[in-house]
Amino acid sequence: MDYLQTQGIRLPRLGLGTYRMQGDVCRAAVESALGLGYRHIDTAEMYGNEDAIGEAIAASRVARQDLHVTTKVWNENLVPDAIRRAFDASLKKLRLDHVDLYLVHWPAKHMDLPAMFETLARLKEEGRTRAIGVANFNIALLRTVVEEIKAPIACNQIEYHVMLDQTPIRKYLKAKSIPLVAYCPLAQGRAASNQELIAIGRKHDATAAQVALKWLLDQDEVAAIPKASRRESQAANLGALNLTLDDADRKAIAALPKDQRFVSPGFAPAWD
Ligand SMILES: NC(=O)c1ccc[n+]([C@@H]2O[C@H](COP(=O)([O-])OP(=O)(O)OC[C@H]3O[C@@H](n4cnc5c(N)ncnc54)[C@H](OP(=O)(O)O)[C@@H]3O)[C@@H](O)[C@H]2O)c1
Repeated sequence: MDYLQTQGIRLPRLGLGTYRMQGDVCRAAVESALGLGYRHIDTAEMYGNEDAIGEAIAASRVARQDLHVTTKVWNENLVPDAIRRAFDASLKKLRLDHVDLYLVHWPAKHMDLPAMFETLARLKEEGRTRAIGVANFNIALLRTVVEEIKAPIACNQIEYHVMLDQTPIRKYLKAKSIPLVAYCPLAQGRAASNQELIAIGRKHDATAAQVALKWLLDQDEVAAIPKASRRESQAANLGALNLTLDDADRKAIAALPKDQRFVSPGFAPAWD
């Protein structure tokens, strides 16, 4: 497994996304993934599955120090007391004494950024999360957090895949040495049936989904968290790490339309 080093943690570059999996389905999927060698699990209080993930981790033989768990505080809970309550609830459901990364899941309109990051920094100081970070922050918000508040954020988790250009924010993150964690790395599954990607995959005896993932993972400071409930897909996604794309493949992928954003709730701020 490849890792990214960021803010004192070692982030496995390929993780398991868990949105829209709950209960037994989620527990079985996480158990399967841990058995296959996944060491990075992505969840959030909003997913309603931290309890199932906690069961799967407890049942696994993976040593805690070998496992990376990310969870997130929902954007209705961004005042200090609510962050603490949400964090305590997440930890309890996950059956852990600390998480590895705690993210602000979505920005909210009237959030008090200094107060939020002070609270997150305290959780880090207390050793209850090893690192803190953000998701769905645009460049303007990142500037405030990174350059004014100087919060030690370990990543920005955003939608990124072969069908969506994220060049401006990638450049900003790279300049600040902050990894980009790509969510919806398979364009919510659509990448698997993309004809250009299928053709590239055929050349390498690989699937279109593997091509889409390797294209992301070949980029500096990028990690990806594909969600897969099926064991075969989980194994195939891990196998993407062994694929070698060539210049012609990258050129063909660069030529795909890149204006497809699939996640954009009304409360998200405008993107740069
Ligand atoms: N921070 C945020 O605001 C945010 C927003 C969205 C998502 N996320 C995180 O990112 C994760 C991934 O995003 P996502 O779940 O929306 O989309 P995704 O990972 O791009 O796509 C998931 C879909 O792809 C399918 N799939 C997985 N591997 C495959 C393979 N090898 N071949 C064919 N199909 C495959 C899955 O099928 P099966 O499940 O049926 O196997 C599922 O339908 C989420 O689960 C969540 O953890 C974060």
